[in-house]
Amino acid sequence: MISPSSRRLWVVMLLLVVVSEQKCIFDEVQAQATVVRAVLTEPRLLQTTDHRSRRASAIRRRNLGNLGKKAPLNPASPQPIRIRTWIAKESSNLLEDEKERIEAAVEEAVKVVSSLLSVSRVQGPLLLSRDVNKYCKFLWRNSSTANFNRCGRANISYRSETCLEVTIPDDHLAGCDVYLDANSPQRTELRPDGAGLSDTDFLLYLNIQSTDKCRAEPNVLAYAAHCRTDAVGRPVAGVVVICRDRLTEANYRHQAAVQTVIHELFHVLGFSKELFNTWMDCSQAGCSPRGKVTHSDGSGQTRIYTPSIISALQRHLQSTDPELGGPLENQDAAPGTTSSHWESRVLQGSIMAAVLGDSDTVRIDLVTLAALQDTGWYTVDLSRAQSLVWGDGEGASFGSLQTCQNKSSAFFCSGSGVGCHFLHLHKGECQTDEYLEGCRVHKPLKNGSECWKKENSVSSPEEELSGEIFGFDSRCFFSSLAKQKQSQFLSPSSSVNGRCYRHRCTGPNRYQIQVSGSEWIDCPTGGSIQVKGFWGSVSCPDRRLCLFSDVTPPSDYINTLPALITIDETSTSAQTLAWLLGTTSAASLCFLAAVVGSYRKCCSHRIRIQPAAQDHSNL
Ligand SMILES: *[C@@H]1O[C@H](CO)[C@@H](O)[C@H](O)[C@H]1NC(C)=O
Ligand SMILES: *[C@@H]1O[C@H](CO)[C@@H](O)[C@H](O)[C@H]1NC(C)=O
Ligand SMILES: [Zn+2]
Repeated sequence: MISPSSRRLWVVMLLLVVVSEQKCIFDEVQAQATVVRAVLTEPRLLQTTDHRSRRASAIRRRNLGNLGKKAPLNPASPQPIRIRTWIAKESSNLLEDEKERIEAAVEEAVKVVSSLLSVSRVQGPLLLSRDVNKYCKFLWRNSSTANFNRCGRANISYRSETCLEVTIPDDHLAGCDVYLDANSPQRTELRPDGAGLSDTDFLLYLNIQSTDKCRAEPNVLAYAAHCRTDAVGRPVAGVVVICRDRLTEANYRHQAAVQTVIHELFHVLGFSKELFNTWMDCSQAGCSPRGKVTHSDGSGQTRIYTPSIISALQRHLQSTDPELGGPLENQDAAPGTTSSHWESRVLQGSIMAAVLGDSDTVRIDLVTLAALQDTGWYTVDLSRAQSLVWGDGEGASFGSLQTCQNKSSAFFCSGSGVGCHFLHLHKGECQTDEYLEGCRVHKPLKNGSECWKKENSVSSPEEELSGEIFGFDSRCFFSSLAKQKQSQFLSPSSSVNGRCYRHRCTGPNRYQIQVSGSEWIDCPTGGSIQVKGFWGSVSCPDRRLCLFSDVTPPSDYINTLPALITIDETSTSAQTLAWLLGTTSAASLCFLAAVVGSYRKCCSHRIRIQPAAQDHSNL
């Protein structure tokens, strides 16, 4: 029944493989970075006659007040984190369009992160500590002396401070002193305090270069490390290296760059194996160290056991298992060590998985936000998490090797055919990757994969045969439909493939579909339907469509509003209302878009209506 020409097309589609995925080498990089923790000391005594220094000491005292014991004991109400970006002087001279791309991506990423995380803000200008091991030849080590742990002799070859190969400007650094005698307050100022950075809680150095690491790893767009923490361990400065070559590539995608920067920011702000065991418990008055939070669960999976993560995962998997810690990737960690990514079999699609797939499928999920909350350094707006969908309600063992091998979960696939990505926005090819340990999942095709893009329709005989419709309200369905022809007397046994059909919601987890030339037909979730004029059937996925109001095509792609919604008179549950609000109100769309990262465009102008002719392939 498939004509020779459509068969050829079919082969081409299979060869298009998946989107080039972003890989993260954070752990390798962070291991090479020196981290300096601010020390809790009394402010320097005002003994010098140098007035510059006196002013600086006053500034430092304010900083210590914030960084030190006082802040956590009497926390000021948390405010959105102020992330200041600073282009390192090591950065290449960028062309205008490279600059525009990177500025747009970083600005949007910073906006998203600061809309999610709040901190007790730094009072006064932020000054980074100098590394005593660099400027100092030796420290006073006798704990009964007045200058215990202070610098005794200057290192004469001391020049500057770095943050992962970025030279920190002196202006950003606190001063340092040398005490020539173990007991005398007499000191020599080695370097004065810099002016610091006002209105800054985190300083992000951007180093835009083509580094050796960029050249060695063609799938790396950016990598990062934190290099300074305050006295309670909260990171206050870090570097994101952005691989310059990626900025000019034809397949550069703004949303993918935004997500990569958010991912790296989450690492440097606390989602890092170097920091897991320095997280604080701030649930009581004041904060105390959580101690070691990562443990093996007995099956060889390292997990983070902290309260918000556990309850987020319990909620997500609908399990009451108290041992449900946040599972960490075991494929990018040496044996016996930990990774700074979620296990991708369990949290596929999370912004903190080791691989970021197609940007329309990456989610800032509840478990990730819970992890940032459990650092103790941030107050996180958990209500703004995006539905992960992957693994939703599948129980505590979801994502274990067994659940994918014995195919007990519909989230995993076998073979290599074309089906649907689990969000049903895209067709997907059943594939594995280096993190899935042989488990296979449907990953979006390299191009032409989005059902919601009208321009993906190629009007091929095969498309026509299967009744496909591409467009904003189309989604992917497993289908074996084949148009009946008068010349055919036997039903051809068509194989099941991912196909794009229109859908419209009639309630939570209830919807109708429309195939080319057909009426709207109720699609009973978990069942399948036949369509008049077609051989074969279409499966109606359960708990994937019309349930998560934030699973939509990118909001700035909207060129037609979703299909008319029919309200079922009998269902008046709160869920229906919430769902209706979620799908119809501009305010909600705006809110969702803010998390997705289209904040900039959407929230200032409500929904931006795109002219239909515009090319959206750059989203
Ligand atoms: C440490 O300092 C105290 C007070 O200055 C002194 O009495 C003691 O002998 C010192 N101890 C050592 C081991 O140098
Ligand atoms: C996919 O991309 C390739 C190369 O960019 C292009 O030649 C091909 O026509 C595209 N296919 C579809 C279905 O858009
Ligand atoms: Zn990473």
